[in-house]
Amino acid sequence: MRITYFTAAPRPALQFREEADDNPDMFEWKDEYSVHIHSIDAQHQNLFRMAGELHSAMLAGQAKSVIGKVLDRLVQYTAMHFAHEERLMRQRNYPGFELHKVEHDVLTRKVLQFQADFRSGTTIITVQLLQFLRDWLENHIKGSDTKYVPFLTAEPVGQTRADK
Ligand SMILES: [Fe+2]
Ligand SMILES: [Fe+2]
Repeated sequence: MRITYFTAAPRPALQFREEADDNPDMFEWKDEYSVHIHSIDAQHQNLFRMAGELHSAMLAGQAKSVIGKVLDRLVQYTAMHFAHEERLMRQRNYPGFELHKVEHDVLTRKVLQFQADFRSGTTIITVQLLQFLRDWLENHIKGSDTKYVPFLTAEPVGQTRADK
């Protein structure tokens, strides 16, 4: 006689939750993100910390008003950070400035739209949104931000170091 044992098959939806939803390290700063320019590293670290706060607030099921304030701080800080980078890039006549600014502008438009949708109640914070934010931060810092480093840290004759 043949006996068949039934075992519970893993559920992909639950696996996704475990990987993305409850990962406390999602916005953990890593040394590999460093661009070795003090002010910019400090701002990037703050961005990761604020995004982590948004993640925690979401996981804790905080009230919309609380999450909204965390989101507002993150949006404001992002605008300040982009303006800081753009000022330094312009000061040094960085040749990749225009392209870099386009990336900043595209993300700014997305987060402002999201912020407006969140306020009006047509959207909520989701893991997918936070994952997008994390991937954007990581890719932008390791890709685009890293490219301006030699231009911002060089010491041309007659100029002081742009930022250290
Ligand atoms: Fe940056
Ligand atoms: Fe940037």
